[in-house]
Amino acid sequence: MVDGRVLGGSSRIASTREWLERNFGSTSILETEHLSFYYGRDRALCDVTLSIPLEGVTAIMGPSGCGKSTLLRVFNRMNELYPGTRIEGRVRFLGQDLLREDPVAVRRHIGMVFQRPNPFPKSIFDNVAYGPRVHGVRHRGELRRIVEVSLQGAALWDEVKDCLKRSAFSLSGGQQQRLCIARALAVRPAVLLMDEPCSALDPKATDRVEATIRELAGELTVVVVTHNLHQAARISDHVAVLLAGGELAEFGPTAAVFECPECARVADYLNGVFG
Ligand SMILES: Nc1ncnc2c1ncn2[C@@H]1O[C@H](COP(=O)(O)OP(=O)(O)O)[C@@H](O)[C@H]1O
Ligand SMILES: [Mg+2]
Repeated sequence: MVDGRVLGGSSRIASTREWLERNFGSTSILETEHLSFYYGRDRALCDVTLSIPLEGVTAIMGPSGCGKSTLLRVFNRMNELYPGTRIEGRVRFLGQDLLREDPVAVRRHIGMVFQRPNPFPKSIFDNVAYGPRVHGVRHRGELRRIVEVSLQGAALWDEVKDCLKRSAFSLSGGQQQRLCIARALAVRPAVLLMDEPCSALDPKATDRVEATIRELAGELTVVVVTHNLHQAARISDHVAVLLAGGELAEFGPTAAVFECPECARVADYLNGVFG
Protein backbone atom coordinates (compact mmCIF):
# COMPACT_ATOMS: atom_id res chain seq x y z
CA MET A 1 0.00 0.00 0.00
CA VAL A 2 1.28 3.46 -0.80
CA ASP A 3 1.67 5.72 2.18
CA GLY A 4 1.24 9.34 1.20
CA ARG A 5 1.34 10.52 4.81
CA VAL A 6 4.55 12.47 4.52
CA LEU A 7 3.54 13.99 1.22
CA GLY A 8 1.08 16.75 0.58
CA GLY A 9 -1.04 17.82 -2.35
CA SER A 10 -0.10 16.84 -5.87
CA SER A 11 3.20 15.24 -4.84
CA ARG A 12 1.13 12.55 -3.10
CA ILE A 13 -0.72 11.86 -6.36
CA ALA A 14 2.50 11.99 -8.37
CA SER A 15 4.21 9.41 -6.18
CA THR A 16 1.18 7.09 -6.29
CA ARG A 17 1.02 7.47 -10.07
CA GLU A 18 4.69 6.54 -10.40
CA TRP A 19 4.23 3.55 -8.10
CA LEU A 20 1.15 2.34 -10.03
CA GLU A 21 2.84 2.67 -13.38
CA ARG A 22 5.93 0.82 -12.17
CA ASN A 23 4.08 -2.01 -10.45
CA PHE A 24 0.93 -2.44 -12.47
CA GLY A 25 1.52 -0.61 -15.74
CA SER A 26 -1.69 1.34 -15.17
CA THR A 27 -2.74 4.67 -13.71
CA SER A 28 -6.15 3.50 -12.51
CA ILE A 29 -6.71 3.38 -8.77
CA LEU A 30 -9.92 1.31 -8.83
CA GLU A 31 -10.84 -1.22 -11.49
CA THR A 32 -13.79 -3.52 -11.93
CA GLU A 33 -13.80 -6.47 -14.28
CA HIS A 34 -17.09 -8.11 -15.28
CA LEU A 35 -18.61 -6.97 -12.02
CA SER A 36 -22.18 -8.06 -11.33
CA PHE A 37 -23.96 -7.49 -8.04
CA TYR A 38 -27.13 -9.11 -6.73
CA TYR A 39 -29.55 -8.32 -3.91
CA GLY A 40 -31.09 -11.76 -3.51
CA ARG A 41 -32.16 -12.65 -7.04
CA ASP A 42 -32.26 -9.08 -8.27
CA ARG A 43 -29.24 -7.97 -10.26
CA ALA A 44 -28.31 -4.35 -9.56
CA LEU A 45 -25.04 -4.25 -11.54
CA CYS A 46 -24.51 -6.15 -14.77
CA ASP A 47 -21.06 -7.03 -16.11
CA VAL A 48 -19.44 -3.68 -15.32
CA THR A 49 -15.84 -3.29 -16.48
CA LEU A 50 -14.51 0.12 -15.50
CA SER A 51 -11.22 1.80 -14.56
CA ILE A 52 -11.30 4.83 -12.29
CA PRO A 53 -8.31 7.08 -12.98
CA LEU A 54 -6.07 8.02 -10.08
CA GLU A 55 -6.23 11.68 -10.92
CA GLY A 56 -9.19 14.01 -10.75
CA VAL A 57 -12.90 13.58 -10.15
CA THR A 58 -14.88 10.74 -11.70
CA ALA A 59 -18.65 11.23 -11.77
CA ILE A 60 -21.03 8.28 -11.88
CA MET A 61 -24.29 9.33 -13.50
CA GLY A 62 -27.48 7.64 -14.50
CA PRO A 63 -31.20 7.50 -13.80
CA SER A 64 -32.59 6.54 -10.42
CA GLY A 65 -32.24 2.87 -9.56
CA CYS A 66 -29.53 2.09 -12.13
CA GLY A 67 -27.02 0.98 -9.47
CA LYS A 68 -24.91 4.09 -8.82
CA SER A 69 -25.01 3.77 -5.03
CA THR A 70 -24.50 0.02 -5.27
CA LEU A 71 -21.32 0.51 -7.32
CA LEU A 72 -20.02 3.07 -4.84
CA ARG A 73 -20.72 0.72 -1.93
CA VAL A 74 -18.88 -2.12 -3.69
CA PHE A 75 -15.79 0.11 -3.66
CA ASN A 76 -15.66 0.33 0.12
CA ARG A 77 -17.22 -3.06 0.88
CA MET A 78 -20.38 -1.65 2.40
CA ASN A 79 -22.80 -3.73 0.35
CA GLU A 80 -21.70 -6.78 2.30
CA LEU A 81 -23.43 -5.31 5.32
CA TYR A 82 -26.76 -6.16 3.65
CA PRO A 83 -27.83 -9.80 3.99
CA GLY A 84 -28.35 -11.97 0.90
CA THR A 85 -26.07 -10.09 -1.47
CA ARG A 86 -23.75 -11.69 -3.99
CA ILE A 87 -20.93 -10.34 -6.08
CA GLU A 88 -19.38 -11.71 -9.29
CA GLY A 89 -16.30 -10.51 -11.10
CA ARG A 90 -13.25 -8.72 -9.83
CA VAL A 91 -12.52 -5.40 -8.15
CA ARG A 92 -8.98 -4.11 -7.78
CA PHE A 93 -7.67 -1.27 -5.65
CA LEU A 94 -4.11 -0.15 -6.43
CA GLY A 95 -3.76 -3.39 -8.36
CA GLN A 96 -4.74 -5.60 -5.39
CA ASP A 97 -7.85 -7.76 -5.09
CA LEU A 98 -10.14 -5.47 -3.10
CA LEU A 99 -12.59 -8.26 -2.28
CA ARG A 100 -9.93 -10.23 -0.42
CA GLU A 101 -8.71 -7.35 1.72
CA ASP A 102 -9.88 -6.70 5.28
CA PRO A 103 -13.03 -4.51 4.89
CA VAL A 104 -12.00 -2.29 7.80
CA ALA A 105 -8.64 -1.59 6.15
CA VAL A 106 -10.42 -0.95 2.84
CA ARG A 107 -12.66 1.64 4.49
CA ARG A 108 -9.63 3.35 6.01
CA HIS A 109 -8.22 3.91 2.52
CA ILE A 110 -11.52 4.44 0.71
CA GLY A 111 -13.74 6.88 2.60
CA MET A 112 -17.37 7.68 2.00
CA VAL A 113 -19.61 10.72 2.29
CA PHE A 114 -23.35 10.14 2.09
CA GLN A 115 -26.35 11.88 0.59
CA ARG A 116 -27.56 13.37 3.86
CA PRO A 117 -25.03 14.89 6.24
CA ASN A 118 -24.71 12.40 9.11
CA PRO A 119 -22.51 13.92 11.80
CA PHE A 120 -22.20 12.01 15.07
CA PRO A 121 -23.94 13.51 18.14
CA LYS A 122 -20.61 14.89 19.31
CA SER A 123 -18.66 18.12 19.12
CA ILE A 124 -17.19 19.38 15.85
CA PHE A 125 -13.71 18.43 17.12
CA ASP A 126 -14.74 14.94 18.21
CA ASN A 127 -16.44 14.24 14.88
CA VAL A 128 -13.22 14.87 12.97
CA ALA A 129 -11.00 13.22 15.60
CA TYR A 130 -13.19 10.10 15.63
CA GLY A 131 -11.40 8.14 12.88
CA PRO A 132 -7.85 8.96 14.01
CA ARG A 133 -8.80 7.95 17.58
CA VAL A 134 -10.20 4.63 16.33
CA HIS A 135 -6.87 4.14 14.56
CA GLY A 136 -4.98 4.75 17.77
CA VAL A 137 -3.96 8.41 17.66
CA ARG A 138 -4.03 9.59 21.29
CA HIS A 139 -1.66 12.55 21.44
CA ARG A 140 -3.71 15.73 21.91
CA GLY A 141 -1.41 17.92 19.79
CA GLU A 142 -1.41 15.39 16.96
CA LEU A 143 -5.21 15.17 17.08
CA ARG A 144 -5.51 18.98 16.99
CA ARG A 145 -3.24 19.10 13.96
CA ILE A 146 -5.24 16.42 12.12
CA VAL A 147 -8.52 18.16 12.97
CA GLU A 148 -7.24 21.51 11.67
CA VAL A 149 -5.77 20.10 8.44
CA SER A 150 -8.93 18.06 7.76
CA LEU A 151 -11.26 21.01 8.38
CA GLN A 152 -9.10 23.13 6.11
CA GLY A 153 -9.25 20.43 3.45
CA ALA A 154 -13.03 20.51 3.70
CA ALA A 155 -13.03 24.35 3.56
CA LEU A 156 -14.71 24.60 6.96
CA TRP A 157 -11.86 25.63 9.27
CA ASP A 158 -12.37 29.39 9.07
CA GLU A 159 -16.03 29.04 10.00
CA VAL A 160 -15.57 26.75 13.01
CA LYS A 161 -12.07 27.29 14.38
CA ASP A 162 -13.42 29.29 17.34
CA CYS A 163 -16.19 26.86 18.25
CA LEU A 164 -14.72 23.37 17.90
CA LYS A 165 -16.41 22.27 21.13
CA ARG A 166 -19.88 23.10 19.87
CA SER A 167 -22.21 20.30 18.85
CA ALA A 168 -22.00 19.30 15.21
CA PHE A 169 -25.77 19.69 15.09
CA SER A 170 -25.41 23.46 15.63
CA LEU A 171 -24.01 23.75 12.10
CA SER A 172 -26.05 24.43 8.95
CA GLY A 173 -26.74 21.56 6.54
CA GLY A 174 -23.97 22.66 4.18
CA GLN A 175 -21.51 23.01 7.06
CA GLN A 176 -22.52 19.58 8.38
CA GLN A 177 -21.79 18.06 4.97
CA ARG A 178 -18.35 19.70 4.90
CA LEU A 179 -17.82 18.41 8.45
CA CYS A 180 -18.57 14.89 7.17
CA ILE A 181 -16.01 15.48 4.40
CA ALA A 182 -13.48 16.57 7.05
CA ARG A 183 -14.28 13.47 9.13
CA ALA A 184 -13.61 11.28 6.10
CA LEU A 185 -10.37 13.14 5.29
CA ALA A 186 -9.04 12.77 8.84
CA VAL A 187 -7.79 9.21 8.23
CA ARG A 188 -5.98 10.27 5.04
CA PRO A 189 -7.89 8.11 2.55
CA ALA A 190 -6.60 7.60 -0.99
CA VAL A 191 -10.13 7.72 -2.40
CA LEU A 192 -13.19 9.66 -1.31
CA LEU A 193 -16.53 8.24 -2.46
CA MET A 194 -19.41 10.69 -2.40
CA ASP A 195 -23.00 9.60 -2.94
CA GLU A 196 -25.02 12.60 -4.18
CA PRO A 197 -23.32 14.80 -1.59
CA CYS A 198 -25.24 17.94 -2.54
CA SER A 199 -28.73 16.55 -2.98
CA ALA A 200 -29.87 17.71 0.48
CA LEU A 201 -28.21 21.14 0.19
CA ASP A 202 -29.37 24.55 -1.01
CA PRO A 203 -27.66 26.15 -4.06
CA LYS A 204 -25.18 28.21 -2.01
CA ALA A 205 -24.08 25.24 0.10
CA THR A 206 -23.89 23.16 -3.09
CA ASP A 207 -21.47 25.71 -4.59
CA ARG A 208 -19.25 25.45 -1.52
CA VAL A 209 -19.20 21.65 -1.56
CA GLU A 210 -18.54 21.56 -5.33
CA ALA A 211 -15.61 23.95 -4.91
CA THR A 212 -14.32 21.76 -2.08
CA ILE A 213 -14.54 18.67 -4.29
CA ARG A 214 -12.48 20.39 -7.00
CA GLU A 215 -9.82 21.37 -4.48
CA LEU A 216 -9.67 17.89 -2.97
CA ALA A 217 -9.11 16.40 -6.40
CA GLY A 218 -5.54 17.68 -6.34
CA GLU A 219 -4.84 15.52 -3.34
CA LEU A 220 -6.89 12.35 -3.63
CA THR A 221 -9.18 10.51 -6.02
CA VAL A 222 -12.82 11.58 -5.82
CA VAL A 223 -15.64 9.39 -7.13
CA VAL A 224 -18.93 11.23 -6.94
CA VAL A 225 -22.39 9.91 -7.73
CA THR A 226 -24.76 12.49 -9.10
CA HIS A 227 -27.92 12.50 -11.13
CA ASN A 228 -27.43 16.21 -11.77
CA LEU A 229 -25.94 16.44 -15.26
CA HIS A 230 -24.90 20.07 -14.78
CA GLN A 231 -23.06 19.18 -11.62
CA ALA A 232 -21.24 16.32 -13.34
CA ALA A 233 -20.23 18.67 -16.15
CA ARG A 234 -18.99 21.29 -13.67
CA ILE A 235 -16.95 19.14 -11.33
CA SER A 236 -15.79 15.97 -13.06
CA ASP A 237 -12.88 15.06 -15.30
CA HIS A 238 -14.32 11.68 -16.28
CA VAL A 239 -17.86 10.35 -16.29
CA ALA A 240 -19.31 6.87 -16.17
CA VAL A 241 -22.95 6.52 -17.23
CA LEU A 242 -24.93 3.59 -15.87
CA LEU A 243 -28.30 2.82 -17.41
CA ALA A 244 -31.28 0.69 -16.39
CA GLY A 245 -30.32 -2.81 -15.36
CA GLY A 246 -26.98 -1.65 -13.95
CA GLU A 247 -25.11 -1.69 -17.24
CA LEU A 248 -22.21 0.63 -17.85
CA ALA A 249 -23.16 2.38 -21.08
CA GLU A 250 -20.37 4.90 -21.37
CA PHE A 251 -17.12 5.98 -19.78
CA GLY A 252 -14.74 8.71 -20.84
CA PRO A 253 -13.47 12.24 -20.36
CA THR A 254 -16.37 14.48 -19.30
CA ALA A 255 -16.23 16.89 -22.25
CA ALA A 256 -16.13 14.04 -24.78
CA VAL A 257 -19.05 12.17 -23.21
CA PHE A 258 -21.21 15.29 -23.00
CA GLU A 259 -20.35 16.53 -26.49
CA CYS A 260 -20.33 13.28 -28.38
CA PRO A 261 -21.51 10.18 -26.50
CA GLU A 262 -20.85 6.94 -28.32
CA CYS A 263 -23.97 5.20 -27.05
CA ALA A 264 -27.33 6.38 -28.44
CA ARG A 265 -29.08 5.58 -25.14
CA VAL A 266 -26.60 7.82 -23.34
CA ALA A 267 -27.27 10.59 -25.86
CA ASP A 268 -30.99 10.23 -25.07
CA TYR A 269 -30.27 10.30 -21.35
CA LEU A 270 -28.12 13.41 -21.67
CA ASN A 271 -30.80 15.06 -23.77
CA GLY A 272 -33.26 14.44 -20.98
CA VAL A 273 -35.40 11.86 -22.78
CA PHE A 274 -35.31 9.84 -19.59
CA GLY A 275 -33.58 10.08 -16.25
N1 LIG B 1 -30.41 -2.85 0.26
C1 LIG B 1 -31.04 -3.21 -0.86
N2 LIG B 1 -31.77 -4.34 -0.91
C2 LIG B 1 -32.41 -4.73 -2.03
N3 LIG B 1 -32.37 -4.05 -3.20
C3 LIG B 1 -31.65 -2.93 -3.23
C4 LIG B 1 -30.96 -2.43 -2.07
N4 LIG B 1 -30.32 -1.28 -2.41
C5 LIG B 1 -30.61 -1.06 -3.70
N5 LIG B 1 -31.41 -2.04 -4.20
C6 LIG B 1 -31.91 -2.14 -5.58
O1 LIG B 1 -30.80 -2.16 -6.47
C7 LIG B 1 -31.04 -1.34 -7.60
C8 LIG B 1 -29.99 -0.25 -7.68
O2 LIG B 1 -30.16 0.62 -6.57
P1 LIG B 1 -29.16 1.80 -6.24
O3 LIG B 1 -27.77 1.31 -6.29
O4 LIG B 1 -29.63 2.44 -4.99
O5 LIG B 1 -29.42 2.79 -7.49
P2 LIG B 1 -29.16 4.35 -7.66
O6 LIG B 1 -28.19 4.78 -6.61
O7 LIG B 1 -28.62 4.50 -9.05
O8 LIG B 1 -30.50 5.03 -7.54
C9 LIG B 1 -32.46 -0.81 -7.46
O9 LIG B 1 -33.32 -1.65 -8.18
C10 LIG B 1 -32.72 -0.93 -5.98
O10 LIG B 1 -34.08 -1.12 -5.71
MG1 LIG C 1 -28.37 6.17 -5.07
